[in-house]
Amino acid sequence: MCGIVAALAARNVQGILLEGLKRLEYRGYDSAGMAVLNAAGELARQRAKGKVAALEEKLEQGALTGRIGIAHTRWATHGKPSEVNAHPHLARERLAIVHNGIIENFEPLKRELEADGVVFESETDTEVVAHLIDRAFRHRDSANQDGGETGDLLAAVRATLDRIDGAYALAVMHADAPREIVGARKGSPLVVGVGIDENFLASDALALLQVTDRFIYLQEGDVVRLSDVNGIEIFAADGQPAERPVHTYEHGDSAASRGEYRHFMLKEIHEQPAVIAATLEGRLSGSHVLESSFGVGARALFDQVKQVHIVACGTSYHAGMVARYWLEKLAGLPTQVEVASEYRYREVVVPENTLFVTLSQSGETADTLAALRYAKSRADSLDEHGGQGYLGTLAICNVPGSSLTRESDLALMTQAGPEIGVASTKAFTTQLVALMLLTLSLRKTRGDERETALVQALRGLPAVLDSALAMDGPIAQLSEAFAEKHHALFLGRGTQFPIALEGALKLKEISYIHAEAYPAGELKHGPLALVDADMPVVAVAPNDELLEKLKSNLQEVRARGGELFVFADEGVALTAADNLRVLHVPPVDELLAPIVYTLPLQLLSYHVAVLKGTDVDQPRNLAKSVTVE
Ligand code: F6R
Repeated sequence: MCGIVAALAARNVQGILLEGLKRLEYRGYDSAGMAVLNAAGELARQRAKGKVAALEEKLEQGALTGRIGIAHTRWATHGKPSEVNAHPHLARERLAIVHNGIIENFEPLKRELEADGVVFESETDTEVVAHLIDRAFRHRDSANQDGGETGDLLAAVRATLDRIDGAYALAVMHADAPREIVGARKGSPLVVGVGIDENFLASDALALLQVTDRFIYLQEGDVVRLSDVNGIEIFAADGQPAERPVHTYEHGDSAASRGEYRHFMLKEIHEQPAVIAATLEGRLSGSHVLESSFGVGARALFDQVKQVHIVACGTSYHAGMVARYWLEKLAGLPTQVEVASEYRYREVVVPENTLFVTLSQSGETADTLAALRYAKSRADSLDEHGGQGYLGTLAICNVPGSSLTRESDLALMTQAGPEIGVASTKAFTTQLVALMLLTLSLRKTRGDERETALVQALRGLPAVLDSALAMDGPIAQLSEAFAEKHHALFLGRGTQFPIALEGALKLKEISYIHAEAYPAGELKHGPLALVDADMPVVAVAPNDELLEKLKSNLQEVRARGGELFVFADEGVALTAADNLRVLHVPPVDELLAPIVYTLPLQLLSYHVAVLKGTDVDQPRNLAKSVTVE
């Protein structure tokens, strides 16, 4: 998705903005641009289609010099990826704006401006906002010439926001308000970076870690003005000045570098033992899950829960699917799991005492956020079928201060640290750990042998994951069998079915090989027709109660000449043969097996993508944090 960086400093800001854009590259984008106000009081701009490196080349030819500036990486929504559609957009060469999100009513506004004589340069919705703000600014300016108010950028932005519908985070500067940047957020994240005698805005704190570790996470509807005179001024949605806490970023800046690894994805796969240990830290005591793990009020709420609804997107949705098996088996709670883009438009019937849970790495995914708001809108009302409102809302999330955590009653933070690779890896496995903590906390019987055994297994999990990572070499070899293929099939049963789905998603995302996953028992109801020597079939086969059934499904594949790759526990009696390759995964409590089996599948997709030479960390067409619907 798009990224924003803005800086108001006493030094030249080109380097700060460029570094910020590089740090935002992981979010996925197709063009980049920058504008600064130079010493002559003029806006100077450079934009380029493609990577930030292309913009950097242009800046080498024509550097931008100024102490105030805004910059952007664009992920096309309105209008194709091109230099002319890249941000910043200008109005009359006096105002510059960068914007994330979508302006839904831009067409009538554009017609209105065109009728007023405005000629548009781009196809974007953003340029409409540029001209609207500029027009509002000038009207105030002319009022000033008549003896009225001064040209007030903040007031002009506010007046414009009243007219636009949709989601946005934006940053605006004006040549006639030379030491001010105004930012606003609604539906898209924006943070203020607090420096010493210099301040910044960005859509993601990571973009600014080279200049500060202190951040203010703006809230929905906030408008902020950075200026030399008053520093940082924040105004809430009602226009009143607002105090927002300053947070110190605690993950250090190492997350922004690949270190010894060739790709962020590989680094993040290898971080999993450590980040899972961090996610468990302070949440286990002796043989049970600490009551305080889910925050104040959680226990009283959990005691009343009779059902669970889980809503998420993509990889996070797969984590929810695993949790359904756990919640039903261990806690006896009927559980429904749904993708947010479907849930939010459905007439959901909410049974009595239902807990609503969202899962999200970023905490800013537009559909998941909308689903939470929809769930909350029903919290206190009975629906026409006698359904209730939700008992409460819980977010399991990786980004502190994100919208999802702020708007939920309860939040459990995973401790994966910043995830830069677009393909989610460590965020997924830490979500699974958090969901196991939730499952144990929701059980009516607590402190029993099952809980003790699982808590013990959770403590041992980082070590098991370390051994699973040792499969890297054999998996790299195995990946050669996939690199030339066009399709692949993933099979699993029970909790391993969502892991098969996740394995297939990873493979298609980063290697562009078409991959599908099926519950193994479904094979003969259709997909078996696809199986031949050109269709590699991956099966996840821990030593669980469904193993014997899975083995029969595997025979069905072999009998049709399919090439099988089985990830199995050492205890599983399967001998490698011509069209059957077996990779042993370290043993673990069967309920935690989905976490362990995820790692070899991540490594497989990684190595296939490397062999194919795709852009592993920023696969085509994808964005890290999907803040538009
Ligand atoms: C896949 C992937 C996506 C995200 C999805 C939800 O590797 O990363 O499918 O899982 O866009 O994102 P979050 O978890 O941030 O809500």
